[in-house]
Amino acid sequence: MNTTIERSLVIVKPDGVRRGLIGEVIRRIEAKGYAIVAMGIRTATDELLGTHYAEHAGKPFLPGLIEYMESGPIAVIVVEGHRVVEGFRSLAGVTNPTAAAPGTIRGDLGRDWGTPMIENIVHGSDSAQSAAREIEIWFPGL
Ligand code: RTP
Ligand code: MG
Repeated sequence: MNTTIERSLVIVKPDGVRRGLIGEVIRRIEAKGYAIVAMGIRTATDELLGTHYAEHAGKPFLPGLIEYMESGPIAVIVVEGHRVVEGFRSLAGVTNPTAAAPGTIRGDLGRDWGTPMIENIVHGSDSAQSAAREIEIWFPGL
């Protein structure tokens, strides 16, 4: 049994905000039973994203990813619950929205729009360690 209450950093990306899907993402998180412990509408910057996406430093898609993430406001949300990192990744679906299973956020709400970068509505931390690092970036001291 895992008794540790975990946190995940969820972001509704600019395409999700533009399409009015903040509420739908939050609805699914709450319906699943996780708690929202912090949230805010923010504008990403090169500095914030450079740290947030440190694991992708040097990858060819990083500049396009940064441009996508700076294309409009984002909703940054801290979610809490047992095994929430894995649980939210499951709610989100796989990275590519065309391939994401129906029933998931990306599968139900996302698609390929022919944009240079994969637009997939949400970000979710990929480990408890990433979550702690990412939460410190967006909500220092939380
Ligand atoms: P996220 O970090 O946003 O939750 O997504 P993820 O773990 O499913 O995907 P990741 O590999 O961390 O990539 C971050 C975001 O960059 C765009 N992108 N990924 N993996 C790729 O080939 C690729 N190409 C572009 C997507 O917006 C992805 O969510
Ligand atoms: Mg990732």
